[in-house]
Amino acid sequence: MPSAIRFCDLMEKKSAIPEFYKKTPAERLALVKDFAGLSDEEAAMIQKTGALELDSANRMIENVVGETQLPIGIATNFTINGKDYLIPMAIEEPSVVAAASNAARLARPAGGFTTSADEPVMIGQIQLVGVKDAEAGRKKILAEKKNLLEFANSLDAPLVKFGGGARDLEVRAIDSIRGKMLVVHLLVDCRDAMGANAVNTMAENLAPKLEALTGGETRLRIISNLAVKRLARAKAVWTKEALKTEEFTGEKVIERVLDAYALADADPYRCATHNKGIMNGIDALVLATSNDWRAIEAGAHAYAAMGGKYKPLTKYYKNEKGDLVGEIELPMAIGLIGGATRTHPVAQVCVKILGVKTAKELAEVCAAVGLAQNFAALRALATVGIQKGHMALHARNIAVMAGAKGEMIDVVAKRMADERKVRVDRAKEILEELLGKKK
Ligand code: MEV
Repeated sequence: MPSAIRFCDLMEKKSAIPEFYKKTPAERLALVKDFAGLSDEEAAMIQKTGALELDSANRMIENVVGETQLPIGIATNFTINGKDYLIPMAIEEPSVVAAASNAARLARPAGGFTTSADEPVMIGQIQLVGVKDAEAGRKKILAEKKNLLEFANSLDAPLVKFGGGARDLEVRAIDSIRGKMLVVHLLVDCRDAMGANAVNTMAENLAPKLEALTGGETRLRIISNLAVKRLARAKAVWTKEALKTEEFTGEKVIERVLDAYALADADPYRCATHNKGIMNGIDALVLATSNDWRAIEAGAHAYAAMGGKYKPLTKYYKNEKGDLVGEIELPMAIGLIGGATRTHPVAQVCVKILGVKTAKELAEVCAAVGLAQNFAALRALATVGIQKGHMALHARNIAVMAGAKGEMIDVVAKRMADERKVRVDRAKEILEELLGKKK
């Protein structure tokens, strides 16, 4: 029986904490510490972990108590449109950074990556219900297009000043489970911003005008993450010579990669994993620059399914020389200004490492990294498998978890990887054996 039972231990813990949002991060953390029984060390650990000031974090989101950290690795070897880049990647998964670097190294003999991207145009959707005559409503909106666009642009002078702004309006009539509705697409060039704030503000302000024109009522007024007007593309060639290994000729590697790609093209179960591998690279870069990776994920997977069947975001084929060509195309709603990219000091340093000058350039780099990541995965999976490389790193983590220190980490990790038994219990056994505790 503990000698002192605290009053709060006797009370039922409640997650409904009055005015939690009004408290300071330190006050909130004290409450959370009590609720979850955190030690002083645990509370201190989550409170301030990096370069981001708690004050800034507290302005970014609500109910802040602390921060988290991820490793940032640098993928090397990237040549994109003849310029060399170092790619900062924020990710917890072993092997991703090494795989991207390796794929970029193998692409260098043929010149690296060539990329392109559309103008940074996002779509804002305004939903109208109860429009009696959809076709007449559509015509009325389109007849007023010029004025509506002018009005939208009057709402964001800075964006217009920097060469962006509302560009066009499209009207779609949609048959839904709740009947016919009109959906207006406002196309906004967001320049170096991701654009959600600019687009949502314009959509909300345009809504009453659209109601007046059509006699309908607006419901949703929000950006679409299926950013099909803002696609980024990358292409690379991997030569037979670059791909040959001790075990496989370059031709064999290419045939095997094409078999792997064919499965993703034919089968959604494989395709989800194929596209996940692409996003391993893209998300890590998007996260390093503090961009909205959920928006990019949503756009990528929706784009993959646009033809009515879920498909790979990459394509592979052989060129006339028999070398492997890889291509990628996907929506890339990424920004360089606004949001956390500007306020997070680590994101700022990552942008500086990248050396990108525009959001469009960043979008192209993302596409190249996605292609590299995918190629690396296919090449490994179709030849030696990924566990060998993956497990080598994973094994080091497991060795540490089992208590290995210093040089012992690598020794224990190697033994487990060689045995293909990467488990904490095995790591403990090996460690005991090595430390002479076990005969
Ligand atoms: C693991 O995070 C990603 C892979 O599964 C991707 C793929 O299978 O293509 C290796």
